[in-house]
Amino acid sequence: MKEIRRAENAGFCFGVKQAIEKAEKAAEESSGKIYSMGSLIHNERVTEDLKKKGIDVIESLDEIPDLEEGVKVIIRSHGEGKVFYEEAELKNIELVDATCPFVAKIHKLVNNTEKQVIIVGDEKHPEVLGISGWCRKPAIVVSSRSDAEKVEEDDLFIVTQTTIREKTLSDVLSVFDEKNKSYQVNNTICSATAKRQKSCEELAADSDLMIVIGGRHSSNTKKLYEISKKNCANSYFVENIDDLPLKELKKCNRIGIAAGASTPECTIKEVIARMSDVTL
Ligand code: F3S
Repeated sequence: MKEIRRAENAGFCFGVKQAIEKAEKAAEESSGKIYSMGSLIHNERVTEDLKKKGIDVIESLDEIPDLEEGVKVIIRSHGEGKVFYEEAELKNIELVDATCPFVAKIHKLVNNTEKQVIIVGDEKHPEVLGISGWCRKPAIVVSSRSDAEKVEEDDLFIVTQTTIREKTLSDVLSVFDEKNKSYQVNNTICSATAKRQKSCEELAADSDLMIVIGGRHSSNTKKLYEISKKNCANSYFVENIDDLPLKELKKCNRIGIAAGASTPECTIKEVIARMSDVTL
């Protein structure tokens, strides 16, 4: 008897899911033009789909023609800084705020402190830029032990980019401990990635064959594939239905499915449907 099981946390995280839903709802309800500030997700298929629904990607509010009226701009799950909201208000642009609630919580934290904020994360990442934009005085961004070594300030208020590894935070904290810095740490790492990896690991350990679905360039899908392969040697990285190992699938009974953070639900469903066709 064939069995196809899907990992519990496969595909979009809660924050991205709600951003896409808000964008689609805005497109349905609005008669004016809709833009998203940056891509809602790094997946061409989703971006193309949203474009067909009338949502274009912009990188700055300046790209919106002056005479356009009834414009709405979607803020993606990474969030934006305070200045962005002020600029939109000045330009009379309605915002659809799809900032992930976990990220919005970090904005509140940093906006409520007078202390020196340290953001542990990648200084170029849009989420980190957004968090910086809510700090009362310029934040310091660190991503490694050597960055932390350079921090001269004391009495620190630490937050983390939601997607960094725990190890990065502990490395930074160990430097501050060595230097006897006083700090308050808010571990704002999101559990979505860890949960996705754990459910992939557990399913792989209990499957004859694993299919990991995601884009070839998606680093989190590559990581999932590695985890899967460690626990089930018979693991395959699949971008779409054309990559399915049909012969192998026919031979196996307990098949598991995992998917990366930017893999849309429609791709996962298509793969499962195609697999059900060939394995039944
Ligand atoms: Fe996703 Fe929000 Fe976590 S966007 S990764 S649920 S912080």
